[in-house]
Amino acid sequence: MPIGRFIAFEGGEASGKSTQAARLASALGAVLTREPGGTELGQHIRELVLGAGVAEGVDVRAEALLLAADRAQHVASVIRPALVSGRDVVTDRYASSSLAYQGYGRGLDVADIRRLSDWASGSLWPDLVILLDVPAEVAQRRLASSGVGLDRLEAAGDEFHQRVAGGFRELAASCPETWRVIDGSRAVDEVSAEVMEVVSAFFAA
Ligand code: TMP
Repeated sequence: MPIGRFIAFEGGEASGKSTQAARLASALGAVLTREPGGTELGQHIRELVLGAGVAEGVDVRAEALLLAADRAQHVASVIRPALVSGRDVVTDRYASSSLAYQGYGRGLDVADIRRLSDWASGSLWPDLVILLDVPAEVAQRRLASSGVGLDRLEAAGDEFHQRVAGGFRELAASCPETWRVIDGSRAVDEVSAEVMEVVSAFFAA
């Protein structure tokens, strides 16, 4: 029976999740982790899914299954043991990324992806999901100025990313008891301050 608090950051590309997840984990003394790639097996899967060459032409169901395999290993070896031992866990992406990217983005059935993630995780879902919402223009500007080449999913095109962003907003709206949406387009410190307020209020309630 999990006893630590389980918080997931979600959002599109360049939404600032990684920075905010790291800041929150440090403030809470929580385990900080991410998907894909939160385990050794997951690092290989991350390469397969995001690497430009290897995964070219990958079937969308294969992509969904690889991400589910990453999640299964991640939950079994990192997240669940930490929660059971009483640690809080903050993850940079989790199952809702599969719903948004493989479901809304790739066009796979969202209910199928939910069942797949439920099976892979042994029905472990976050207590709180924080969506960092960033307008497409801001995300594109941040990606362009990062100076790093785009990975396979970042390069999937504007329409794909619009479907993903719309999917995240729909998921948040359909489950207001678990999701909180924060405007991620502001300065890092302003966003962090709101994240802290949201988390304190959520767990105080
Ligand atoms: P990031 O963690 O650096 O944002 O990159 C992870 C990429 O993998 C991002 O493009 C979203 C994608 N992804 C999925 O498509 N499905 C998933 O289930 C997860 C966890 C990530």
